Amino acid sequence: MVKISETMKIINLSEQNSVMNHFMAEIRDKNYQKNRITFRHNVERIGEMMAFELSKTLDYKPKTIKTPLGTIDIPLIKEENMVIATVLRAGLPFHQGFLNVFDGADSAFVSAFRMYLNREHTEVGIHAEYIATPSVKGKTLLIVDPMLATGGSMAAAIEALLQAGEPKAIHVCCIIAAPEGIEVVKEALPDDATIWCAAIDQGMNEQKYIVPGFGDCGDLCFGEKLQSFRKIADK
Ligand code: PRP
Ligand code: URA
Repeated sequence: MVKISETMKIINLSEQNSVMNHFMAEIRDKNYQKNRITFRHNVERIGEMMAFELSKTLDYKPKTIKTPLGTIDIPLIKEENMVIATVLRAGLPFHQGFLNVFDGADSAFVSAFRMYLNREHTEVGIHAEYIATPSVKGKTLLIVDPMLATGGSMAAAIEALLQAGEPKAIHVCCIIAAPEGIEVVKEALPDDATIWCAAIDQGMNEQKYIVPGFGDCGDLCFGEKLQSFRKIADK
C-alpha cells in the first residue's frame, strides 16, 4: 500500500456524500457505460461540481452591482487570471465542465497519452507531443484530467506547463486517483499545490488501470483507439 502525502492538500470529494455519488455510480457502472453521451455528460457534470467546490477556496472581493431597482455588493472571484489546462483526449469533457463554471478562464491543451512498452501491457510510458498554452505566470492554474493512474501523464503535463511561467497557485483535478499516481504527482508539484479528486481507489492492476476505477476513460468517451505500442516495443 502506497502511503499518501501528509503535507500536500488532497481533497477527496467522496469523503462527503453528495449527488456526485450518483454520477460516480453511473460512470463506474458497466451498463451505463454503454451510452457514450451519458458517460461524457457525467464526466462533465463531475467537472462542474468539482469546479464549484474549488471556487469556494478562491479569493473574493465585493463588487457593486446595479439592479434596475438599486445596488448590491456581491463578493466576486478576485483572480480573473485563471488557466484551465487539460490532457487530450479524455480530459475534454472534464475540461468542458470546468469551463462551464469558470467561463472567463483561458485554456491550455497538452497532448500526452499512455503507451505500452511491452507486449504484456504491464509497462507504461508517456508519449507527449504537443502543447498549446497561454503564459501561466502569476495565474491560477488548474490541470484537469479525469484519471490519475501511474501519474505519468499528469507529471508530463505539469512539466510542460511550468515551462510557460510560474503560476500563483496550482490545482490538479481528477475524477479517480490511484495512491501511486498521487505520490508521483506530488513530487512534480510545489508543496502549496492542491490535488482534488472525486475518489481515491485502491490501486492499479497489472496493466496499470485503476481498480475498481471504471476502465479506459478516453475509449469510453470517444471509442477505442489503436494501440501503437509495437512502434516502441520493436525498436
Ligand atoms: C488517460 C487519462 C490520463 C491518463 C492517466 O489517458 O486521460 O491522461 O490515462 O494515466 P497515467 O496516470 O497512468 O498517465 P490515455 O493515455 O488513456 O489517453 P486518451 O485520453 O487519449 O485515451
Ligand atoms: N487511464 C484510464 O483511462 N483509466 C485508467 O484506469 C488508467 C489510466
